[in-house]
Amino acid sequence: MNYKIAVLPGDGIGPEVVNQGVKVLKSIEKLCGYKFELEFALVGGIAIDEKGTPLPNETLNLCKESDAILLGAVGGPKWDNLPSHLRPEQALLGLRGGLGFYANIRPIKSYKSLIFSSPLKTDIVKDVDFIIVRELTGGLYFGKPKERIKKNGKYIALDTMVYSEEEIERIARVAFSLAQKRRKKVTSVDKANILETSRLWREVVEKVSLDYSNVTLEHMYIDNCAMQIIRNPRQFDIILTENTFGDILSDESAVITGSIGMLPSASLGNNSKGLYEPIHGSAPDIAGKNLANPLGTILSCAFLLRYSLNLEREANLIEKAVEKVLDLGYVTQDLYKDNPNAKKLVSTEEMGDLIVEIIERGEIDE
Ligand code: IPM
Ligand code: MG
Repeated sequence: MNYKIAVLPGDGIGPEVVNQGVKVLKSIEKLCGYKFELEFALVGGIAIDEKGTPLPNETLNLCKESDAILLGAVGGPKWDNLPSHLRPEQALLGLRGGLGFYANIRPIKSYKSLIFSSPLKTDIVKDVDFIIVRELTGGLYFGKPKERIKKNGKYIALDTMVYSEEEIERIARVAFSLAQKRRKKVTSVDKANILETSRLWREVVEKVSLDYSNVTLEHMYIDNCAMQIIRNPRQFDIILTENTFGDILSDESAVITGSIGMLPSASLGNNSKGLYEPIHGSAPDIAGKNLANPLGTILSCAFLLRYSLNLEREANLIEKAVEKVLDLGYVTQDLYKDNPNAKKLVSTEEMGDLIVEIIERGEIDE
């Protein structure tokens, strides 16, 4: 069996971390007997520089033809002053919207050996394991009108928050199905005391929940949820929320894991094709220095194998290898400070090599 994987390194630390993901995919390829056809393409700022647009047609077409997409990061100061439709971030929206990836899965899991890396108290961060299911193709990011108009010589700017029943229903189903395989609890997060979109959200989520009678549903306001995530994160199993709220809550939740560099994500639609990327940005300050944490990308590769290629065993191998490397005390600089479990500071490349080594030595208990 051959699988085609589009690889979009992007900007800043994107290429460095994606290289480690590619190494890991190649080591899995050797083990599993499938062939991974990796094809690289331009995205983000580098695509603007070389092709004049953040998401060239060749890139979008390659993604359409591929079974899965691995992406690094986009953006950087060089492109910050471009008009909005030309910013590198538009590439992400173009991919998410253009390929119908409406379901963004962001797991928040605390690793035993990293609990001192978080600025939060250890008894708050230990044993945390929840997933943010973020709606990814609606809300403020995509709503129209989205514009700036001049009224009496002064500007007014406008973004539109819009959700249809269908959009809410399909993302709710993703959340409930995931919950069924876990601790069977969905916390739906909204601002129903103020927003009409949130009131519709609540009604639709309630209706969908009737089809999942073994899953407990609770509703929580976004402001309260932002507090609960750092007060008592163990209460959560699945957090279901709309696009902007999910964006904010996922960065906040990253604090639990010790570093935003640890977090992978999957963006999925109605078939097995998916877009896999670490949730961190392009970190221009450390780009090219072999300092970035590649584990968010490597864990995104595990997601790619699980969700798009249906290679559950291989996905587990990667996840176990990450756990093992951390247990052995190897960390990149983002996880080194104030962490008594960190025994050896390693570079981006070294971290990638360690993961590959552990996978290839086959010493992981399955
Ligand atoms: C994310 C990022 C993106 C988002 C940006 C880069 C457009 O913050 O994936 O969380 O806001 O969705
Ligand atoms: Mg974000």
